[in-house]
Amino acid sequence: MQQVRAVVSLRRGEPVSIATINVPDPGPGEALVKVQACGVCHTDLHYREGGINDDFPFLLGHEAAGVVEAVGPDVTSVAVGDFVVLNWRAVCGSCRACDRGEPWYCFATHNATQKMTLEDGTELSPALGIGAFAEKTLVAAGQCTKVDPSARAAAVGLLGCGVMAGIGAAINTGQATRGKSVAVIGCGGVGVAAVAGAQLAGASPIIAVDIDAKKLEAATRMGATHTVDSSATDPVAAIQELTGGFGADIVIEAVGRPETWKQAFYARDLAGTVVLVGVPTPDMTMPDIPLIDVFGRGGSLKSSWYGDCLPSRDFPMLVDLYQQGRLDLDAFVTEEIALDDVEAAFGRMHEGNVLRSVVVL
Ligand code: APR
Ligand code: ZN
Ligand code: ZN
Repeated sequence: MQQVRAVVSLRRGEPVSIATINVPDPGPGEALVKVQACGVCHTDLHYREGGINDDFPFLLGHEAAGVVEAVGPDVTSVAVGDFVVLNWRAVCGSCRACDRGEPWYCFATHNATQKMTLEDGTELSPALGIGAFAEKTLVAAGQCTKVDPSARAAAVGLLGCGVMAGIGAAINTGQATRGKSVAVIGCGGVGVAAVAGAQLAGASPIIAVDIDAKKLEAATRMGATHTVDSSATDPVAAIQELTGGFGADIVIEAVGRPETWKQAFYARDLAGTVVLVGVPTPDMTMPDIPLIDVFGRGGSLKSSWYGDCLPSRDFPMLVDLYQQGRLDLDAFVTEEIALDDVEAAFGRMHEGNVLRSVVVL
């Protein structure tokens, strides 16, 4: 067992605090990771607000990269010294999704079996089964994805959640390719990553929509060919106009609200695809849309969980593209902060200037 510093959320709605936590030595199927960098994601804030579940205290942080420090007795997939990005989809290989060859939908993903605790022995709930706002964290070995060790930890760690969600929404879920038009509604960290994914896939045009002009600038830097300020312009009409009057082949909703999902639905060409990657709250319901429109327009209405990614396939590939200068992951790192600054970073999240604050250890 080791003791390390970590960011914990003890009670609903209260500011997070720094605590000393106990991290067990890795047992069978587990790995101990020395965390080098971990991004601050909205989901961490949702945990602290009690919006995910009531299993306080939480050990926050889940968009991380680091180095494997120790592995359990039977672990062969990673070894001590490996540079890894942590993932929250350690596929089981034997559930019904894995069995039919679609492991990116795995329904029985792995987490560490042993619990990290507060000093008094109270068990912690690690955010998304990771808990990486900590000097060291214990995860399932399958949650460690080996990538090019020369890559910058603060940048590639972001593939562990939000950036992968956005890129995957475009490429994996939306199936963006050359010859397809893409519109992205909501250009925070996730939406801008969707723009970057659409660009990587060769889609054109790529239309970025937001109510905040600063977000549209970021989207343009990441590959948007056109922008629409939907606080001033009807985004459905604007997207249609930019696509020959038809609508985009793929419309990605990266806000997580019924009204923007409805915009996505109607901004889509016939037989097009809507991808919902923004996370709605439990009180939200489907917008009122005539069923004949759902039928008549054809196509597909999908949601994208973690960008439908397969970490072992997608992380090393995207890190290589980053290393080659073809995917600007550095652009997502707005600031590097210390472990003690997570609460302040939550406060800055909604000011609109930050794509990601990243804790660097
Ligand atoms: N129309 C267009 N854009 C909007 C609207 C709207 N009505 N309302 C908000 N936005 C924009 C915001 O201006 C912001 O740029 O949506 C963006 C949301 O971005 P962030 O708050 O930075 O969130 P992000 O990290 O990108 O996550 C997006 O996915 O993971 C989930 O919980 C997360 O639901 C959130 C979504
Ligand atoms: Zn499975
Ligand atoms: Zn996240």
